[in-house]
Amino acid sequence: MTGSKVVAFGHFQPERIVPNTELEKLVETSDEWIVRRVGIEERRWGTGVETVDSMAIKAAKMALDNAEGIDAGDIDMVVVATCTATDRSPNMAARVANALGMDQGPATIDVNTACSGFAHSLALVQGAIASGSATKALVIGSEMLTDFTDFTDRTTCVLTADGAGAFVVTDSETAEISPVVWGSVPSLSDAVRIEAENNSKFAQSGQSVYRWTVTQLPKIASKIIERAGLKPEEIDGIILHQANLRIIEPLAEKIGAPNARIATDIVHSGNTSAASMPLALSKLMASDDPLPSGSKALLFAFGGGLSYAGQVITIP
Ligand SMILES: CC(C)(COP(=O)(O)OP(=O)(O)OC[C@H]1O[C@@H](n2cnc3c(N)ncnc32)[C@H](O)[C@@H]1OP(=O)(O)O)[C@@H](O)C(=O)NCCC(=O)NCCS
Repeated sequence: MTGSKVVAFGHFQPERIVPNTELEKLVETSDEWIVRRVGIEERRWGTGVETVDSMAIKAAKMALDNAEGIDAGDIDMVVVATCTATDRSPNMAARVANALGMDQGPATIDVNTACSGFAHSLALVQGAIASGSATKALVIGSEMLTDFTDFTDRTTCVLTADGAGAFVVTDSETAEISPVVWGSVPSLSDAVRIEAENNSKFAQSGQSVYRWTVTQLPKIASKIIERAGLKPEEIDGIILHQANLRIIEPLAEKIGAPNARIATDIVHSGNTSAASMPLALSKLMASDDPLPSGSKALLFAFGGGLSYAGQVITIP
């Protein structure tokens, strides 16, 4: 079986920074409540110029610019993870391929498992490469959650944000993306929702999801590391879905990876659903202090469905 590896990262965020104090003017909330319960200090919201498609395209362009020797014409698979696509058809991956002039005609697939969508998409690409159906892929998470936010609902509008992240993934002689661990909790399938009967606005049973994360996430994270053939102390970076700092920090602690850097992009970016992991990792890799090449990074996300997926990747 052919292995696969991540070779480059990209991301995009709208320019508008919305601090908690701005939300205090919208709903009955406080900077203190948001920081203490969720850990968000500020988030990025679209300015009206960006769309979920345009953010995906910008993140993809950055990832391709960062991928040495690979351009849009080499890509044979595009997967977009999103739960905030504007239209039912065409799907976003098709629009990305068109915008990037991919006349070679790659496979173009959208994945909607809400916040866990990027990890699911990475697993699909890995499987396609392993079976010989793809060799060079673009995997994108893009979300315009503010299009689906009720700005009178303090339980959700303080969480949601906009942005996109992307990876370029290629075939590899060695396996640098571990086998996915994925699954779902059907009894909690309604815990995170964007339903037509609620004007397509984001809603969740926060406490139910929170309780599930506390009891189940550590076990699943251990399984992901085990399937990668690693010990927790060999993990150098922990990139979890950026839903709540109160979930991220204790989970990272329980994983028992004393040397791992923990992505906490939620503090400045809010919750961007399927975009949050690639966004957090791409920003970390573009920072002055990126994870070194060869590092092992745990990716693990959970969300609507209730679905979850995760894998370990080697940093290029
Ligand atoms: C959403 C979440 C941050 C809410 O935090 P919480 O501590 O569970 O808060 P609760 O929903 O129990 O609400 C506690 C109180 O704060 C109030 N509250 C809710 N939002 C508030 C806000 N923005 N500002 C001030 N008070 C708020 C509630 O009305 C409630 O008041 P009450 O006790 O008078 O009824 C938390 O439950 C969570 O992160 N859950 C998991 C979410 C998740 O991971 N989703 C999946 C992927 S997106």
